[in-house]
Amino acid sequence: MIFESHAHYDDGAFDGDRAEILRECRKQGISAIVNVSASLSSVKTTLALAEAYDFIYGAVGIHPDEVGELNEENFSWLKEKCRHPKAVAVGEIGLDYYWDKEGRETQKYWFRRQMELAWELGLPVIIHSREAAADTLEEVKKAHKPGQKAVVHCFSYGPDLAREYLDLGYYIGVGGVVTFKNAKKLKEVVKLVPIQRILLETDCPYLAPEPFRGKRNSSLNLSRIAEAIGQLKGMDAEAVMAITEENARKFYHLNQ
Ligand code: NI
Repeated sequence: MIFESHAHYDDGAFDGDRAEILRECRKQGISAIVNVSASLSSVKTTLALAEAYDFIYGAVGIHPDEVGELNEENFSWLKEKCRHPKAVAVGEIGLDYYWDKEGRETQKYWFRRQMELAWELGLPVIIHSREAAADTLEEVKKAHKPGQKAVVHCFSYGPDLAREYLDLGYYIGVGGVVTFKNAKKLKEVVKLVPIQRILLETDCPYLAPEPFRGKRNSSLNLSRIAEAIGQLKGMDAEAVMAITEENARKFYHLNQ
């Protein structure tokens, strides 16, 4: 079985055939999907999906590009949504200096608040970090409490940063980029990270693996990602899928 640890099935890219794709995922052995929210409106659509499908769970959080919409009032609402029976994580939250849509201090402030929220509620965190390597680590170290679980999703930094997160007990999210020829840094990271600390993800509809690069992605491509990880680890794809499923179930507190 395969565990999809990070997807966005509420995205408009799936409006035409969402039900068909999710049915196909079920048929192809995908045992669970964590749909990740990014804005206040996608918290609602994520939880609606989790209510409609027994194998879909939700992550509740506001992406750094969207933190401009947060205030104390809707932050309380967000906290309430984190208590939904199918909410399994706070995310995706973090820093994005590539798009730099919101001021960096605003991004840091709400990243910290959402890290604290996760700790308070006993939930793992899904971290988004793009071109913000040093500040993300600094903020994480400030907010981190021993025992807090987190995954750095779609990891895009080098081995040194990966070691820092492993030392904190965090997981590394690996998706379609690992199949790209020019993804030298990520391949090095995958070799270094123990397989027990890798979460398999697509981030669909984004980041389709080869040979579908640039096209709409879906969890049906997870086996290609598992294959690429397996090649780097000297394991077969089946073993990668089995171990990463166990990792994700442990991470999200979901029993078999
Ligand atoms: Ni995402």
